[in-house]
Amino acid sequence: MNILRTIICVIGTRPEAIKMVPVIRALEASTWARCVVVATAQHREMLDQMLQRFNVVVDYDLNLMQANQGLNQLLACMLPELDNIIKKEKPYALIAQGDTTTVFGSALAAFNAQIPFGHVEAGLRTYNLKHPFPEEGYRQMISKIAHWNFAPTELAANTLIKEGVLKEKVFVTGNTCIDTLLMAVNQLPPVNKTQEKIIVLTVHRREIFGQPLENVFKTILKILEDFKNVKVIYPVHPNPHVKNLAHSLLVHPRIILKDPLNYFDFVDLLRQADLILTDSGGIQEEAPALGKPVFVIRETTERPEPISAGRAKLVGTNEDYIYHQVSSLLLNEDLYREMAKPYFPYGNGDAAKKIISILQAELEV
Ligand code: UD1
Ligand code: UDP
Repeated sequence: MNILRTIICVIGTRPEAIKMVPVIRALEASTWARCVVVATAQHREMLDQMLQRFNVVVDYDLNLMQANQGLNQLLACMLPELDNIIKKEKPYALIAQGDTTTVFGSALAAFNAQIPFGHVEAGLRTYNLKHPFPEEGYRQMISKIAHWNFAPTELAANTLIKEGVLKEKVFVTGNTCIDTLLMAVNQLPPVNKTQEKIIVLTVHRREIFGQPLENVFKTILKILEDFKNVKVIYPVHPNPHVKNLAHSLLVHPRIILKDPLNYFDFVDLLRQADLILTDSGGIQEEAPALGKPVFVIRETTERPEPISAGRAKLVGTNEDYIYHQVSSLLLNEDLYREMAKPYFPYGNGDAAKKIISILQAELEV
């Protein structure tokens, strides 16, 4: 008799839904696993937007999001809830992706219950605990207690091995974001490019709140003043620290502030963009695959591959520096062509398939 093994997939925020969808789909299609989806709902509206668009059925919804939530409060509410689900479902494994409070909470809950934890997107590092905060610390702690570390690249895998993670626990799989991206691109109509230059902007990281974010917004206004053929499209993250400042400072006829877009509309927007300014992790992975130059509004990044390959630049939050970088690219067609060559350091869209095979292989030993 074929006994189905229960695998719990935990998701909390928008990017986790985007990157876990291929894993959930692959588990659902398997003949050996029963997939149980837990949504902590660390994000509410942005998570629901993704779950609905991808038709993900949630088995347990913890509904944890609070306005302006604190990290400890969120974690403290999450742990007993996850523990109860683990006791009830008695899973073979727990799987989560990335570096959010939800992922750290899931790894810790699994560890305490002695259930193997699978970490999707393992081995990313800046080695600066303040950039990004708290994500870098969460990642480092998760790697110590994960049973399977699914690294997107050889570099990430080697990082883990250098830190002392056993080789047998490290697997290079690619990043599931490419699985989702290629699926979306295959469903979208051909790109409808207009004459004007489009800059897509997204920002949300905690370390940018306040003055650094003001600097970025002022730079955007200066760019628009000097480049009359440029339009900025900015889907604003609902975090009050970001949303309030964006709506008060970014008032300009060529800035379009939008609510968060569903994934397919956002990928379509990226395809129409000329360049992207972002502090997002996922967009640093998607933009090179779509052949879009990306300026990373951060002091450091755990995704060095596109920068080393000349497809992305780290521009920080200094007004003059961002202005110089953006204007140089807008004015220099040769530089633009070099940065706009598609680049795939994060795999070719089969990461979820590899992850599921690794989980299954261990069952058969
Ligand atoms: C979180 C993650 C970050 C990830 C990002 C993806 C942590 C510590 N941070 O950051 O790593 O890159 O998600 O976007 O895990 N809010 C809403 N509706 C939503 C989502 C958020 O109103 O759908 C507001 C709420 O007031 C919430 C606040 O944004 O309290 C912050 O949400 P939170 O998940 O704590 O932080 P993010 O900045 O979204
Ligand atoms: N994204 C989206 N709609 C938007 C903005 C972003 O679907 O309006 C997607 C984007 O394609 C990427 C992910 O959300 O896959 C990135 O999320 P975010 O920047 O919030 O988080 P991070 O990747 O930094 O953790």
